[in-house]
Amino acid sequence: MRKTIIVFTLLLVARILPAVEGMWVPIFLEKLNADEMKAMGMRITTDDIYHFEKASLKDAVVIFGGGCTGEMISSKGLLLTNHHCGYGQIQSHSSVENDLLTKGFWAKDASEELKNPGLTATFIRLMEDVTDAVLDGEATTAENIKAVKEQYETQYEGWTFEIKPFFYGNQYIIIGKEIFKDVRLVGAPPSAIGKYGSDTDNWMWPRHTGDFAMFRVYAGADNSPADYSEDNVPYQPKKHLTINAGGVNEGDFAMVFGFPGSTQQYLPAREVEYITEVYNPERIEVRDVLLSNLDQRMRASDEVRIKYAAKYARIANAWKKWRGENIGIRESKGVQRKKDLEFEFRRRLLSNPELNSTYGYVIDSLNHYYASLVPYARVRNYYIEVGIQGVEALRTIREIIIATRTFESGEIDEEAFMMQIGKRIASLKKDYAAEADQEALATIMPLYIKRLGELTPQRIVDIDRSNNGDWAAIAEKGFNDKFFQNHLMDFDESGKAKKFIKALKKSVLFDIAEALMDNYTDIVAPNFARLQNAINKHQKTYMAGLMVVFPEKRFYPDANFPLRVSYGKVEGFAPVDAVEYHWQTTDTGILEKYIPGDYEFDLPEDFLALLENEEFGRYANESGRLPVCFISSNHTTGGNSGSPALDADGYLIGLNFDRAWEGTMSDLNYDIERCRNIMVDARYILWVVETLGGVGYLIDEMDVVGFD
Ligand code: ARG
Ligand code: GLU
Repeated sequence: MRKTIIVFTLLLVARILPAVEGMWVPIFLEKLNADEMKAMGMRITTDDIYHFEKASLKDAVVIFGGGCTGEMISSKGLLLTNHHCGYGQIQSHSSVENDLLTKGFWAKDASEELKNPGLTATFIRLMEDVTDAVLDGEATTAENIKAVKEQYETQYEGWTFEIKPFFYGNQYIIIGKEIFKDVRLVGAPPSAIGKYGSDTDNWMWPRHTGDFAMFRVYAGADNSPADYSEDNVPYQPKKHLTINAGGVNEGDFAMVFGFPGSTQQYLPAREVEYITEVYNPERIEVRDVLLSNLDQRMRASDEVRIKYAAKYARIANAWKKWRGENIGIRESKGVQRKKDLEFEFRRRLLSNPELNSTYGYVIDSLNHYYASLVPYARVRNYYIEVGIQGVEALRTIREIIIATRTFESGEIDEEAFMMQIGKRIASLKKDYAAEADQEALATIMPLYIKRLGELTPQRIVDIDRSNNGDWAAIAEKGFNDKFFQNHLMDFDESGKAKKFIKALKKSVLFDIAEALMDNYTDIVAPNFARLQNAINKHQKTYMAGLMVVFPEKRFYPDANFPLRVSYGKVEGFAPVDAVEYHWQTTDTGILEKYIPGDYEFDLPEDFLALLENEEFGRYANESGRLPVCFISSNHTTGGNSGSPALDADGYLIGLNFDRAWEGTMSDLNYDIERCRNIMVDARYILWVVETLGGVGYLIDEMDVVGFD
């Protein structure tokens, strides 16, 4: 009886404890977080999460490719990540006749798995605080970093080391990685499941996306990383995750373990204002134009839709996040909260002259530098939005100009030059609709000139004036002249470089691309870098100051990609008046959203039939419904896609893939009331694999608990 009361009280306390902001460094959990994690319900130890020698959860989590997270879910190297993380690989194995994006793919056995040249899975084997060695005043930081790295490289052969600054360089941590290079595609649901709701539902809750895919990591005969070979064998990880199919419940402890890319939690209020009032709106506006052009064209033509699906998704993803970020900062009074913090920072400093002389100036200095940065940052943003992302032909011509300069200076010969150019042009022409690109140029350039005003590069002003500002005519000319039509769209690799370059230099698109590029490289980039350096120095001081001035606060470093732990609990939220979100979605919602024939909400027939039969078996929740997605209060960001969501025992309960709209400002200012991360329920993944995929052997090789 007494025991029950204690357990009950503990459970009650765990439920009452508020969730926690922060992305924490695994090696400091014991010092900073362990007590709280336990009080919130966690039953494993921090050694179970990270231990250098002992197999721990860190040995089950990988960097998938360049920017996502994945995890080991079997003793045979089976890897789970998001569908949108493996999208490029799935697409690369697809053709019109065999479209894996549409149909999905399930290897019936190892022989059917598909190799992916260039794809890696990276394990983090070691993290150590090397601050003292790096900041040792005997040598420069750069020299120290080099020396420390070399020391580790000799000690641990075969691992790759990287030293990363944390807290803007107040702390340095070395990271030892083991990189596997043979990663094969095992399974992916059709996009109708893996990308259900597409851009309309992206960044939104309630969500019904089965955003998962499976790969397998292969190793050499000795279980070590090896280049692709038919003789490679499935990698036996030191640790793989147990999957809990017993289900999650509201209030349960949940943590996310993965690779958050970048956040900016410690900016001064002024810079948050620039981001939300200047940078985001300007970039959003350019993308508004691009996306509405593309949307019309994609709706009018299947061919354009297929070609531009991935590009559209990429442009729309950041665009939508920035919009959510702006709304979130406004509604959560994010700028005011930062101003309050700065006021308190200054107030406390005033009572301590010594600290005041070290830190008292720093916010003013930061404000000064951030203000000086504005014009350069704006031109830089427009350069990225217009010259690099927005008009694809301009990006390619920029690359051609760079290659031309190396050719003209004699660094590469004609053959190499023509080959390089050929590659660039081929990558432009893959999935390309020149009419759409022409429209992009015609519509964004007037906006560019209008918004940048006096900051517009002179050569662009000249082009504008000599054509009476008629960018439709300029674009028409550019996309139909001899260079674009004959040399670019109809490139001949065996042709003469001289002829190609002559036509290039006469072309309108060359003029525009070179004007944008030279303005950026010669004027903007050096100033941007100079100011950014000064800012980094002051951010470091400000960060150190915050930590000294607020000793009662617990600080976590901004995301910088190395492994982090976020913890909180499964819970809904009530972001605005009269709206309260439930924490879980089910099959019911998939059918509610279903729109036959729609490109975002259509469903394949076999899947529809399975849903309508309601055969959810051992995967059903207490109400007999199939759980699909759930949310919790874990602090996550881009890069956390594919991260495992783990329960109190460290078992896999879900797969992280997104954040809810109302809380996308968490990269700048986390707010526990509004910020929720979105995960696919592990049960939905298993159900799809077993029922739709028909590849039960995959479930057999996993360790699944909680069936009963
Ligand atoms: N918003 C998620 C992330 O930032 C998912 C993006 C992929 N999905 C999409 N519909 N674009 O990566
Ligand atoms: N979808 C994001 C990614 O690919 C994760 C969502 C987020 O930004 O929180 O990393």
